[in-house]
Amino acid sequence: MISGFPVRIAGTGKYIPEKVMTNFDFEKILDTSDEWIVTRTGIRKRHFAGEGVKCSDLAYKAGLAALEDAGIDASELDLVILATNTPDTVCPSTAAKIQGMLGAVNAGAYDVLAGCTGSLTAMLTAVTGIASGVWKNVLVIGSEDFEDVLDWSDRSTCILFGDGAGAAVLTRSEDGGPRFAAGEVKADGSKYRLITIDKEEGRDNPVLRMHGAEVFKFVNVHLPPFIKSFCEKAGVEPAEIGFWVLHQANTRIIDSLFKRLGVSTERTLMNLEQYGNTSAASLMVTLDEAMKSGSIKSGEKVLFMAFGAGMTLGALLYEA
Ligand code: COA
Repeated sequence: MISGFPVRIAGTGKYIPEKVMTNFDFEKILDTSDEWIVTRTGIRKRHFAGEGVKCSDLAYKAGLAALEDAGIDASELDLVILATNTPDTVCPSTAAKIQGMLGAVNAGAYDVLAGCTGSLTAMLTAVTGIASGVWKNVLVIGSEDFEDVLDWSDRSTCILFGDGAGAAVLTRSEDGGPRFAAGEVKADGSKYRLITIDKEEGRDNPVLRMHGAEVFKFVNVHLPPFIKSFCEKAGVEPAEIGFWVLHQANTRIIDSLFKRLGVSTERTLMNLEQYGNTSAASLMVTLDEAMKSGSIKSGEKVLFMAFGAGMTLGALLYEA
């Protein structure tokens, strides 16, 4: 359980780049079909950043939108955390670049790398830091620019991913107001080779590789008991969760999770069909869409869930 000052979501934002690639576009360059991709993954199209546009450019726009939504000036931020697997540079952090772009002159900045669990991990870091009194306002951004790291001839992987960015301003709340109640992250490093972005001989850029079937199996085996045990420790039944903010990787994984928890898929928002898997951005984009569409009702319990490279798993409980 999270103790200390209560922490709430003050505002959210997203940025999805304009360039679209549909399953039909993939049919022209790969031995694949719209039907195969939709049936196995639920994805119909995804967006890409385009030539010369970087992770920081997408992140900056999402961050700006979240600040505007929160009604907070960049100078009031104590910290900018960027969750990404596709930073502009390994060093310095892309978060530092964004801090500069935003003019968040009083804020620290660093990147979090935890696969698709990155933005959940960044949120948990922000929440515990605000709850302890170290920070008051933290901007958490998830942003990905996969275009340059995909192998466009690997049909089992390149069809899954897309670019985008989402952001949230987390701030100290009032007693009795909305608050994050619990959070947990886990890793199984023995499976670190299942999803990688690494250098390969003969390639200019690092390349994303994934053992899809093994990832699918790992998540289906470990995610349901992880969520069940998280709920138990947080003192909440899955049936009591009013809304689920989920990492968007595969509709089959989510359907199977909900079936095993006995939860209706009506209590979540899926956007995988339009964006594909935007990895560290996915949870934040989904949060923004859930907030803006009024899907999250005041007073209800909200569960955030993510999983990804590492392998990593994460959950957060929010009382809206
Ligand atoms: N179009 C057509 N056929 C394809 C294809 C594509 N885009 N990609 C793979 N295939 C083929 C394979 O070559 C294989 O053919 P074969 O039987 O002739 O060898 C067949 O489909 C089955 O391959 P497999 O890898 O077992 O498919 P799958 O049913 O496991 O589906 C994924 C592949 C990637 C969709 C699935 O494994 C998955 O969703 N994994 C989880 C991925 C994920 O969520 N990653 C992110 C984690 S954060």
